[in-house]
Amino acid sequence: MSNVRSLLDDLKVLEVDGLSAVTSVRDARELESVRIEYLGRKDGKISLILRHLGEVPAEERPKVGAEANRVKTVVQEALEAREADLSTPSGASAMDVDDLTLPGRSPWPGARHPVTQVIDEIWEIFKGLGFTRARGPEAETEWYNFVALNTPLDHPAADEQDTLYLKGSRLLRSHTSPVQVRTMEAHEPPIRIIVPGMVYRRDTYDATHTPAFAQLEGLAVDEGITFVDFKATLAEFARRFWGPGTKVRFRPSFFPFTEPSAEVDVKRMLTRKDGTRVESDWIEIMGAGMVDPAVLDAVGYDSERYTGFAFGMGPARIAMLKYGIGDIRTFFENDVRFLRQFAKP
Ligand code: PHE
Repeated sequence: MSNVRSLLDDLKVLEVDGLSAVTSVRDARELESVRIEYLGRKDGKISLILRHLGEVPAEERPKVGAEANRVKTVVQEALEAREADLSTPSGASAMDVDDLTLPGRSPWPGARHPVTQVIDEIWEIFKGLGFTRARGPEAETEWYNFVALNTPLDHPAADEQDTLYLKGSRLLRSHTSPVQVRTMEAHEPPIRIIVPGMVYRRDTYDATHTPAFAQLEGLAVDEGITFVDFKATLAEFARRFWGPGTKVRFRPSFFPFTEPSAEVDVKRMLTRKDGTRVESDWIEIMGAGMVDPAVLDAVGYDSERYTGFAFGMGPARIAMLKYGIGDIRTFFENDVRFLRQFAKP
């Protein structure tokens, strides 16, 4: 049988424990669990003590009851005070801080990824040249990724060695060129679009390859677009991106969806630490060409009337050149110490 003394002792212990539990609470959730632990109607510690009230002599009960109420109020008030404290805007009160001599931690606000910044820069230049932005799905069909782009399915690019297939004949687009087809199917000329997006290839993850990477596609189709427009537009882009001293070279190449095709190289003017200027080596920045009439036919355009040019580049590659980065994997590893170097204020 509980006697009065033991119940009153229990209440004293509970008061001390309760107050210390309230002090160490750090957020609203912990606050609520302390409230339930001590003041809960059913299984709260005070309720559990009062369950033994029937075991004390009747004349002593009011005394125990009054003490229980007092302890309840004390804990209740401490909880309320702590709650007010936690919701003050300054956040941490002095009690939360273990070492007052530590320097403060300023929050890292985050910044745009360097590859996103490069995409934005490229986009801004083409916007100035009259292009708009377009997008398309990353899960594609063979028609959009290959066939309509004049690439037969027995072409090596369509091989399972290179392309990641989904169920059936669906696949993860291996380039952003399918958006050329989707845009032309949905709109009549004139077309002038820029398409940034992720593409996927069955590549091993190494310093220069990642199985998922960004591409940026461009397409212009209209009456009377010539090879001169093609060269002038891309040369203008290169000079706006790398500076007016940049040299541009068009090297013959092959893509099934362009004819003629070219690889575009740039030679940049670099400034040495001592201020002297040097020319860089020739560096390839994109694949490009005049849109193959077979592609215009595939989307139902009159290939006698319309001509155009297209190009595709890898913004991560361009970011590597721009920032002198040797390993493309650094863009994917999300190491804040690397990424914050590109933070713009
Ligand atoms: N789609 C090509 C690639 O991924 C690039 C390209 C785009 C070439 C447009 C020509 C025209 O390699």
